[in-house]
Amino acid sequence: MGIAAPTANELPVSSRRHKFLARMTEFYRRCPFLPIRAEKFGAHGILRGIAPETQKRWIVAIDGPAGAGKSTIARAIAQRLGFTYIDSGAMYRAVALWALRIGVDLDDLHRLEQLAKEARVEFAVGETTVLLNGEDVTAAIREPRVSEAASKVSLAPGVRRAMREEQRRIGATQSVVMEGRDIGTVVFPDAQVKIYLDAAPEVRAERRAAETGGVADEIAQEIAERDHRDRTRTEAPLTQAPDAEYLDTTRLSPAEVEEAILKLVRARTSNGKGHR
Ligand code: DC
Repeated sequence: MGIAAPTANELPVSSRRHKFLARMTEFYRRCPFLPIRAEKFGAHGILRGIAPETQKRWIVAIDGPAGAGKSTIARAIAQRLGFTYIDSGAMYRAVALWALRIGVDLDDLHRLEQLAKEARVEFAVGETTVLLNGEDVTAAIREPRVSEAASKVSLAPGVRRAMREEQRRIGATQSVVMEGRDIGTVVFPDAQVKIYLDAAPEVRAERRAAETGGVADEIAQEIAERDHRDRTRTEAPLTQAPDAEYLDTTRLSPAEVEEAILKLVRARTSNGKGHR
């Protein structure tokens, strides 16, 4: 006489969970659009339990100049989709902060590259806390002198290489919304969704002034200098990828921008683009 297999309810909870996750994993593997559906049905918690190696990974790349609203929007989109949010600018800022603290000359490309390779930059607590070598530097990296230094540090090809490798490593293991200057052009040229966010320079300066409590005119000047450096550098300059969607946020509220991007994500994913 054969031994009957236990019914689902007779299995220990861990085994039932395993079976359920295995079934969901198979379903997920076959269904490339599930993250978008999950967003609709609020099923992210379940999806996170599925074996990561079988999940389809999505890259939403958001690039654009300072003050275009990238961080606010990218974070909100990541939350809606259940993806990891990565602020790539924070990585350059962390390296710049370290260089300033230990007195590394910002023209010393070799030393900067070493720092970038050695720096342990981590994102914690809802991906908004930034740790540099284990220390919380979330506030320190937003200081104006660090903004200026980050823009200079990011000119170094060796620094960019180290950052790029780390960003690709993160994107290889999970679905991400990553924002920066070269995400859709260089870091993830095959990203399924690419957005170039822009806004009128005076509006970008006003937004930054509201965030930091600074003087709009001074900020406008700083932003203009940084934008110029970011756009004209030889390595991975800020530019719109040919297949990126251009979105001018000058007259849009964050909620309107968020909706426009989510619409685009749904459109891109439901017509089969990005199916790997
Ligand atoms: O987005 P942010 O202002 O925090 O970025 C700080 C600096 O880092 C910015 O001046 C340009 C640089 N950066 C870059 O070169 N490439 C990225 N992907 C992100 C930021």
